[in-house]
Amino acid sequence: MLIKTKSNILSSEITDRAVFESRREFIKAATIFSAGIMLPSSGHAETGKYADVPIGPYSAKLPVTGREDVTSYTNYYEFSSNKKDSTVLARALKTKPWSVEVAGEVEKPGVYNLEDILKDNPVQERIYRFRCVEAWSMVVPWIGFPLGEMLKRFKPTSKAKFVEFTTIYNPEVMIGQRSGGLDWPYVEGLRIDEAMHPLTMMVTGMYGDELPNQNGAPLRLIVPWKYGFKSIKAIVKIRFTENMPETAWHKNAPNEYGFYANVNPEVSHPRWSQSRERVLGSSLFTPKRDTEKFNGYGAEVAALYSDMDLKQYF
Ligand code: MTE
Repeated sequence: MLIKTKSNILSSEITDRAVFESRREFIKAATIFSAGIMLPSSGHAETGKYADVPIGPYSAKLPVTGREDVTSYTNYYEFSSNKKDSTVLARALKTKPWSVEVAGEVEKPGVYNLEDILKDNPVQERIYRFRCVEAWSMVVPWIGFPLGEMLKRFKPTSKAKFVEFTTIYNPEVMIGQRSGGLDWPYVEGLRIDEAMHPLTMMVTGMYGDELPNQNGAPLRLIVPWKYGFKSIKAIVKIRFTENMPETAWHKNAPNEYGFYANVNPEVSHPRWSQSRERVLGSSLFTPKRDTEKFNGYGAEVAALYSDMDLKQYF
């Protein structure tokens, strides 16, 4: 993400790696990738905490991006706007114990320990495409559970039309929060039907293991048909609301970052096109990929927006 006027692609973003990591995938890739055959759908590491979790529905049979690429190139403005620095600085965040406050239009508000949430919500692996608004993309084996299943347990009232998510505010450790840029804490939101959609995940791990701090530990959102900035990290609060929440990037630049933020090659960002994307880990010479509407999840989610002009509600 870019705060206002910086150019969108940094030279430091271009890497030479075109590998698939995790031990099993790496070995297979050495033989299979060169033959142009798609890798199997599991992104499991054999020894990680979540090595044995089942593969969930909607998991794409796509080659996964190398773990090293995904964990060393992170957008986490609470630590730094530099993608390499944020991966290192985020190590300082203490993620245990962790709890989530549930508030607003809901019958069962309260403060819930993450451990208890996890007892009620068994995890599964899903390989999803992920598309950043900055026009790069990756494929990640996430570990988590459907957000809707979790939300239902709190019994939203009929007034709950939106769900707002808030990241932890801890400027002592999150040094990016000491200065401006975004109005801290980071806030994101979804319409209730988007939040309840079975594709939407709460994520606690990746590559068969716990989520690294820089990727949003211990609990983050993943909404695969929307630009990555909707996928808020380190969530400490979930609030059900009647009105559309004001979200961090929208507040920062409303003409650049809409509330809906559905991936859409036909709607350019005011400062760059969204028609193509650079695949993270690919070489400088690899052609960019055509961006897919709803990031390729149109069959599942287009109906949510059938009565909306997506150029207006971008
Ligand atoms: N959540 C918080 N709290 N702070 C952030 O800076 N960046 C967002 C999103 N969630 C961000 C965040 C953006 S712009 C993107 S593209 C994704 O996280 C990046 O996720 P990744 O670093 O795991 O690739």
